[in-house]
This record gives sequence, structure tokens and C-alpha cells, in this order.
Amino acid sequence: MRALVVFESMFGNTRAVADAIASGLAETMEVDVRSVDDAPDGIAADLGLVVAGGPTHAFSMSRETTRRDAVARGAEHPTSGLRDWLERLPESRSSAAVATFDTHAAQKWIPGSAAKAAAHEARRHHLRVLSSRSFYVADMEGPLVDGETDRARAWGRDLARRVQEE
Ligand SMILES: Cc1cc2nc3c(=O)[nH]c(=O)nc-3n(C[C@H](O)[C@H](O)[C@H](O)COP(=O)(O)O)c2cc1C
Repeated sequence: MRALVVFESMFGNTRAVADAIASGLAETMEVDVRSVDDAPDGIAADLGLVVAGGPTHAFSMSRETTRRDAVARGAEHPTSGLRDWLERLPESRSSAAVATFDTHAAQKWIPGSAAKAAAHEARRHHLRVLSSRSFYVADMEGPLVDGETDRARAWGRDLARRVQEE
């Protein structure tokens, strides 16, 4: 079974989480990892799982204004947004399962999650959302909190098991 991991990342943390998720998936699935800038416009018929994630900006998925703000704060990877990629997905009867993730400030009490917003958008496209998860960064530009890439790899492994058992 094939999986696609799509990520948006401005400081590199969400990319590191995406790579770790992909390495967990790759233990039992064929995996393609793509930045949103380079992601396919639709969900190919042979995909069993799509894992999509981005940074939490202003309590949700990024917008052009928040990405500009990130660049002003030193982000080195200008990118398009996960929100735009999801919104552009064509209406389809894809049977692929979807999982969403984000990076979020380590202060877990700060409300809002790009992963939850992405799940909401995926459901609006009639996609089946299996799971959503946040991974934590110590500060605005990172680094990831210790242990988060291990947690991401384990989540990837678990997602692969779940879709293959269905
Ligand atoms: C403009 C802006 C707004 C942000 N707003 C939030 C927020 O509402 N909640 C939060 O947890 N983190 C927020 N952050 C921190 C980001 O989540 C953090 O920069 C991101 O996880 C880093 O991921 P990246 O390295 O993949 O870009 C914000 C960051 C920026 C630049």
C-alpha cells in the first residue's frame, strides 16, 4: 500500500516531523514525502493513506500574512500553505484515509491547532480522517522538544498498521 506525506514548514521543524512520520510508515508501506510546493494536485487512486501537516500559526493553519510574519522573524523557507493545498483538492471519491499533524508551541494550553483545522478541511472534502496529532516546539523557530521525532516515527508506524488492518 502507498502513502503520501505532505508538509508545510518554514523553520524546518514540521519537515523533521514529516520525515520521522515517513520513516515509521516506510517500515511497512511505500512512502512519498512532498513539500506542499511540490505536492500533487489530487489524491492518486492507488494511495491508501495521506498524512498532511503544517505549523500552527495564529491558532490554525498558516495564511499568507502569518507566513510573511514568519519570514520577517527569520524563517528561511518561504512556502505556500497547507490550507491552500487542501482547499484546492478536487472533489473526489477517494477512499484514502487521511491523518493530519502540526507543530505547536510547547505551551500546550495555547489553544488552536493546524492539525485540527486541516482535519476539518479534509472532512469538508469528504475525506475520512483517521487521526490528528500535535508535535511540540520549544520556541517560535524550534527546536523540537526532545523525543518528538521518536513520537512522530511511532505515530507513523501506528497509522500504517491501522490502514493495513482495515
Ligand atoms: C506568525 C506565527 C504565528 C504563530 N502562532 C502560533 C500559535 O497560534 N500557536 C502555536 O502553538 N504556535 C504558533 N507559532 C509557532 C509555530 O507553531 C512554530 O513557528 C512552528 O511550529 C515551527 O514549525 P516550522 O519550523 O515547520 O515552520 C506561530 C509562529 C509564527 C511565525
